[in-house]
Amino acid sequence: MKIISTRRSQVLAGRIAGALQCAISDVRWTRFPDGEIYLQAHEISDHMVIVGSLVESDDFIELLLLIDACSESEITLVLPYMGYARQDKQFNPGEPLSARAIARALGSGVRKVTTINLHEQTVLPYFGVPATDISLAKAMAEKIQSLPSSSPLILGPDAGAAKLAQDIGHAGGWESDHLHKIRLSGEEVRIEPKSIPVAGREVVIVDDIISTGGTLATATAMLYQQGASAIYSVCVHGVLATGAYTHLISAGIKGVFSSDTIESACSTYSAAGIIADVLR
Ligand code: R5P
Repeated sequence: MKIISTRRSQVLAGRIAGALQCAISDVRWTRFPDGEIYLQAHEISDHMVIVGSLVESDDFIELLLLIDACSESEITLVLPYMGYARQDKQFNPGEPLSARAIARALGSGVRKVTTINLHEQTVLPYFGVPATDISLAKAMAEKIQSLPSSSPLILGPDAGAAKLAQDIGHAGGWESDHLHKIRLSGEEVRIEPKSIPVAGREVVIVDDIISTGGTLATATAMLYQQGASAIYSVCVHGVLATGAYTHLISAGIKGVFSSDTIESACSTYSAAGIIADVLR
């Protein structure tokens, strides 16, 4: 078995190879004069594990090209972050089911797929091959243990993140809850924890994705108003679009921590160990 990666996920791929003590293939990347991507993969073996997050459209092309370059091998695709997964329904007539389009295209050339904290599990069958989603809850709990807070309240920003908050709470031995909206009037909503008050407490808001940071910034403002003493955020996929990091810090969040499913300066814990465990 050998690991091979897109340019997006080189560091994570290196860590997975290290954890498995297996080789990583060298890939030369360049562009044709018209901008098309060219790659040449070296040392392809019988079983190739392709690692690549899909954040921007070029990542998708790189994955398709790598899958084709390895087409003589048995391929396991590790898709640490799957962009387009949030368009998992047709919300309005005429829209594509983008998650299905992406999954079908990537699933067609591979033997099996592993995803990490996929936004909706309903996307998995669209790959058309055995596909498993794994959760980083345990790694997130380990990250939270390193924060200067002995008994944080773990909060999901909405009901969809309640299970993640609960799993992290169980792993670390902390209380967990999720936020819900109470409509006060036509214009005014209040966001508060479903059952555990935050007054005087250190809070860690956990989520699968931080994209614009809007969800978190709004929750942070409300939680400080309700007396929270410090707020941190730990997410799986730090997309951090449109200045999200500065938006969150200016909202008073003490730290923004994400995994290396999307590699950035906020990637302060790794998905590699958990991915390596499922590949063993
Ligand atoms: C939504 O259901 C997701 O779990 C995240 O809460 C959401 O994608 C975050 O988006 P943003 O950072 O743009 O508020």
